[in-house]
Amino acid sequence: MFVVFEGLDGAGTTTQLKRVSDRLEALGYQTLITAEPSDGNIGKYIRKILTKEESADKQTLALLFAADRLDHIYNVLKPALEQNIIVLCDRYVISSLVYQGVDCSDEWVKAINSQAINSDLTLYFSVTTEEAFNRRNHRGGKTELFEENSFLSMVKDRYDKFSDSDPNTCVIDAMQSIEQITNDCVNAILNKLSLKGEQL
Ligand code: TMP
Repeated sequence: MFVVFEGLDGAGTTTQLKRVSDRLEALGYQTLITAEPSDGNIGKYIRKILTKEESADKQTLALLFAADRLDHIYNVLKPALEQNIIVLCDRYVISSLVYQGVDCSDEWVKAINSQAINSDLTLYFSVTTEEAFNRRNHRGGKTELFEENSFLSMVKDRYDKFSDSDPNTCVIDAMQSIEQITNDCVNAILNKLSLKGEQL
């Protein structure tokens, strides 16, 4: 089972990945936590662009995210899924659709990501842009490429529209307490697992 965590920078996906993984492991499931941009060479280069150590035009960056994704699928995602491990991935294709889609055409972003395998479930962490900003401030560090409030409010609109229209996306109210958010994520994953079991 392939589960993707999505949300604005500061929505809290990274904090929840570990908590959700711990809960699933305690129930006897094997899990793998991973993320995009990945730890591979293309992902490392993307991180340099995000921290503004390197620069790239918007189309090149969209292609790098798509290439990193295929590399990540080949080296990490597929091998884990083939062993029936529950993969918990911080960001995936929807990040490209909502972030790169602000500056590049939706059709083109979809086309360059068309070879990516489908996820089983996306958990979209819904927070206000103000709350995401406060959480980023609290975390500290330098402002990354996409972390400007004006850009992220466009990203939020795109996430909200996308999550409304995608049947595989479950909206998580990420304004709740950390514990309640973990409960909601685990319940959504267990529901999906039982539906998948019924289909077998
Ligand atoms: P994060 O590691 O804090 O989630 O940061 C990754 C940044 O990269 C975040 O601003 C979202 C952005 N991003 C895209 O724009 N497109 C993508 O396909 C992915 C995976 C991330």
